[in-house]
This record gives sequence, structure tokens and C-alpha cells, in this order.
Amino acid sequence: MEDQAEKLREIMRQKKGSGEQNSSDPKERKRARVITITSGKGGVGKTNVSVNMALAYARLGKKVVVMDADLGLANVNVMLNMIPKWNLYHVIRKQKTMKEIMVDTEYGISIVAGASGFSKIANLTEDERMNFIDELDTLSNADIIIIDTSAGVSSNVLDFIAAADDAVIITTPEPTAITDAYGIIKIIATEIDSLNMGLKLVVNRVHSVAEAKKVADRMTNIAGQFLNLKVDYLGFIYDDIAVSHAVLRQRPFMVTEPRSKASICIQHIVGRMEKSDIKESAGFSMMMKRLFDRG
Ligand SMILES: Nc1ncnc2c1ncn2[C@@H]1O[C@H](COP(=O)(O)OP(=O)(O)OP(=O)(O)O)[C@@H](O)[C@H]1O
Ligand SMILES: [Mg+2]
Repeated sequence: MEDQAEKLREIMRQKKGSGEQNSSDPKERKRARVITITSGKGGVGKTNVSVNMALAYARLGKKVVVMDADLGLANVNVMLNMIPKWNLYHVIRKQKTMKEIMVDTEYGISIVAGASGFSKIANLTEDERMNFIDELDTLSNADIIIIDTSAGVSSNVLDFIAAADDAVIITTPEPTAITDAYGIIKIIATEIDSLNMGLKLVVNRVHSVAEAKKVADRMTNIAGQFLNLKVDYLGFIYDDIAVSHAVLRQRPFMVTEPRSKASICIQHIVGRMEKSDIKESAGFSMMMKRLFDRG
């Protein structure tokens, strides 16, 4: 364990060093904003939100990478009808680098495919995790990295949440989804140093603004009252047939139906993200630090 901690420290030292040497003007060095999308309950819309938020960001001229961090049941590439030859499994096994497995899409965003069908690696060893962290850093020249996670709490999901500048929790108005979303917020409150992280809530599949607000008020109040945690209500997405149509066609709804209610909601959400600052000293080095602190 100590060896590994030292190795990680060394990685961080090197990164700091190379950053100083490579950039003549520190202000021009890019910092990727890392946004992790998560939920308690499965099937509440994480992958749809990840991919379509990425597209909304790309339309603002941002360089965006969507990483499918689901190591058991990948689905970002399925949603985009792509079958990348290499995926995170090969990175974890040190057969490929992150750059090598990253692929461009026809939509102006890049994706890093998850590792379908490798449930036995769903929890990484320390060594694998550190190699992975090192590889993650090679994506740092993007503006935005959106990490789509699997539902619920494995130690990997917690790592990805800990690594993020913003953790966006998705729920639907269903009581089971709300309970599970609260569960994950509670775990974040107890397991992660979340002080420098923006915790945000999106209510998906609503039928009215009032319905969304009711869910959001309940969740943000409970989190504040019982966990002393500030959760920002980022927005809602209407339950919209355009979403399931697009999923069936394996294309993002932002592309198939850019004027749908769901697409407009996604644009609002990204607009609000853009207005909310990254917490102080965030960015990639902060991400490294958070992962290091957990390691
Ligand atoms: N706003 C919406 N309106 C209508 N249907 C939706 C909406 N959001 C999600 N869905 C439906 O829910 C399904 C699941 O969405 P998605 O795959 O994005 O969820 P997920 O949280 O990523 O699931 P998993 O936990 O399995 O990864 C979609 O295929 C779609 O049919
Ligand atoms: Mg998904």
C-alpha cells in the first residue's frame, strides 16, 4: 500500500513538473472540467444525459470527451451505434493507452468506450486503479470530460465521483429513484471529501415544472438538514418520447430532435452548468489530488 501511495505521489510530482516546463504562459494551460454523472437507481437516464449534455457543450465550441466508466455493462457506444475496437478494459490491462482507445464521433464529441462484459474487473486493484489514474490525465487537453457511471455505489463509482469537479445526480420522480438518489448523496457525504465539489441534481422524466421542483426541493432540503450538504438543483428534463425514439435509432436526441422538449431542457442544464463556477483550485490537478486522497 505504501509503495503504491509513493508511486502515485511520484506521478503527481512529474505532472506538476511537466506542466511548468511545457507551458510558457500558465494562463493558457487548459484545465478540463470533469463532470461525473451518477444515480442511485439504474435506468434513470444517465447515459442519455451524458451524451446529450456533451453535444450541447460541443455546440458551445467546447472540446468534449464522454467516458463510459461502466466496466460491466458499457452503453455509451451502444447509444451512438459504434463498436470501438478497443475499450477501457485494454487500458486497465495496460494493452492500450487512453489516447489510443479514444474515438471521434460524427457528432463532434469523442468517446472512450466502457468495458462490456468484464464484470470481474468491476472493482479494480490498487495497481490497476493507479495506472488508470495516470491514463486519465492524458485526456486533460479536453475542455470537458463527462464520465457516465454505472448505477449505485461500487468503489469505482465513488472514485469517479471523488475525481469530479461536479457530480451530477440523476433521479426521476419515482419514489424508488428518489430514495436511491438520497442513498448515494448520503454515501458521498460520508465517504468523500465533497467540500470542493459541486453536487448537483437533475430530475429526469418529469411531466411539469412543478413536479420537478417538488422532487428537487425535497431532496435538497433533506440533504441540507440531515447531511449538512449543499446540493444545487441544476434542472429537469421532461419525459419525452423523443428520447426513446432516439435511443431506438441509436442517435442522440439533441441530433434527431433538437427542438424537442428534452433537447431544450438539456441546453438549459448546460447553460446553468456554464454559469456555475468550478470550485476553487479544481481542474485536473485537483482531480489527481482527490483520487490520491482516496487511494
Ligand atoms: N426524459 C426521458 N423521456 C423519456 N424516456 C426517457 C427519458 N430519459 C430516459 N428515458 C428512457 O429510459 C431509458 C434508460 O435511459 P438511460 O440508458 O439513459 O439510463 P441509465 O441511467 O444510463 O441506465 P443504466 O443505469 O442502465 O446505465 C432510455 O432508453 C429511455 O427509453
Ligand atoms: Mg447508462
